[in-house]
Amino acid sequence: MASPANQAPPVYSDTVVRLFALAAVLWGIVGMLVGVIVAAQLAWPELNFGIPFLSYGRLRPLHTNAVIFAFGGSVLFATSYHVVQRTCQTRLFMPGLAMFTFIGWQVVILAAAISLPMGMTSGKEYAELEWPIDLLIAVVWVSYAVVFFGTVGMRKIRHIYVANWFFGGFILAVALLHIVNSAAVPVSLTKSYSAYAGVQDAMVQWWYGHNAVGFFLTAGFLGIMYYYIPKQAERPVYSYRLSIVHFWALIFTYMWAGPHHLHYTALPDWAQSIGMVFSLVLLAPSWGGMINGIMTLSGAWHKLRDDPILKFLIVSLSFYGMSTFEGPMMSIKTVNALSHYTDWTVGHVHSGALGWVGLVSMGALYHLIPRMFGRKQMYSVRAIELHFWIATIGIVLYIAAMWIAGVMQGLMWRAVNPDGTLVYSFVESVKATYPFYVIRVGGGLLYLTGMVIMGWNTVMTMRAGKPVEAPIPLAPAHA
Ligand code: HEM
Ligand code: HEM
Repeated sequence: MASPANQAPPVYSDTVVRLFALAAVLWGIVGMLVGVIVAAQLAWPELNFGIPFLSYGRLRPLHTNAVIFAFGGSVLFATSYHVVQRTCQTRLFMPGLAMFTFIGWQVVILAAAISLPMGMTSGKEYAELEWPIDLLIAVVWVSYAVVFFGTVGMRKIRHIYVANWFFGGFILAVALLHIVNSAAVPVSLTKSYSAYAGVQDAMVQWWYGHNAVGFFLTAGFLGIMYYYIPKQAERPVYSYRLSIVHFWALIFTYMWAGPHHLHYTALPDWAQSIGMVFSLVLLAPSWGGMINGIMTLSGAWHKLRDDPILKFLIVSLSFYGMSTFEGPMMSIKTVNALSHYTDWTVGHVHSGALGWVGLVSMGALYHLIPRMFGRKQMYSVRAIELHFWIATIGIVLYIAAMWIAGVMQGLMWRAVNPDGTLVYSFVESVKATYPFYVIRVGGGLLYLTGMVIMGWNTVMTMRAGKPVEAPIPLAPAHA
């Protein structure tokens, strides 16, 4: 049905998508800069200048919160709002509430950026923020769920595209995880104690922590993968059937794997073993998803040669495959006896974080940002290519240095003389690690430089284009 001539055609609600996309680029630069600073402090501790709010213990949670929730979170909001509208061919449900999620999320980020360097923390990793900020997060997140599922409810297309299943699963799981793990007894405005105690507290925390990886850093980004790879490659998903199996198998399995973070602790042995077994099973759905994403390029491999955005997206999947092979191996108790407490864990984290989460985010943003400003492409395609290579070399330096350092530390700590005494003192292992910490600073600097290039390219794209609201097709078509 055509719209009357005097009536403007309906448009998508893209202002909030645009704002989140720009916030993602900004917070990416900030979070990675703090990452480079903490990496440098591990090599040269005097870089805290004796100032409490620059101390490692305060900047480290600032880094993790900035990259995961400020950068990763903004990418997820931007892409999910973009994708759900296109695949449902309708505008956002309650655009005002969507704008509230943008403002609310930025307030959470600013509150974190102030309170963490001041030393206010609940002490729970990836859930450090104190209870008033936690309450705001819960309100923003429930609003996000209302907007997202409300939009799915208003869809003009009967079928719910698989990317929305991943986004929906991620939104529901994160609401559940955050609300359960943040339960606390406040003693003042800036201090609270967990509602759980002892080993139960540890178990709830790592049920949260592992599923933060599984849903925040994985399921949401798989939603991104299932929309932006087919779009950028101009090919349908390799196997739609596999994508559905992938979804259900992944979300079911992730929920049980948390105890692998608590091997050889006071957690009952059977619970540790359950965590290990489910982690091993997790290899299958993870690799199913990776293969589905990479094979979407079948018949169009040549596009990888000249399209740097596809390079970002496909190489991110290779890192996803690597880290989801490594993770199950590290969850085997005997392997974990070597890897735990060492920099091997940090290498694993960043092969997932820089290689998978970082690269897939950058690829999706490079696809999205020009379209939000009425352009077909970013201002400079060569700068995207440069960014890709700098970032990839940076990741390889970072993770190779951490793997070598980690295995070396593990072996040094367990080496014993024939009389049972330790061969190395702890400080000898710290000394041996020094060159690898310096290499990591180099890798991190390269990765950060790539992100700064992206910032420049984004500003130039904004200046060359102008914000546009794309019209919604009047006759339902395939998105
Ligand atoms: C320029 C890039 C980056 C650099 C130089 C960097 C550096 C660091 C350093 C030095 C640590 C502390 C390691 C330790 O305590 O031994 C760390 C921790 C961490 N970073 Fe990064 N990082 C970067 C980017 C990222 C990104 C993009 C993400 C996520 C998307 C991320 C997620 C994490 C996480 C989850 C931890 C905690 C790891 C653990 O507890 O085992 N980082 N990072
Ligand atoms: C099949 C998938 C995966 C499995 C089974 C897995 C398993 C593991 C294991 C066993 C550890 C070490 C626990 C310890 O010794 O303390 C670990 C740590 C970690 N992994 Fe994975 N991993 C997987 C995928 C990923 C991915 C894709 C990412 C990032 C996007 C990631 C992020 C992390 C983080 C942040 C930690 C450190 C947690 C901490 O101690 O602070 N993992 N993972």
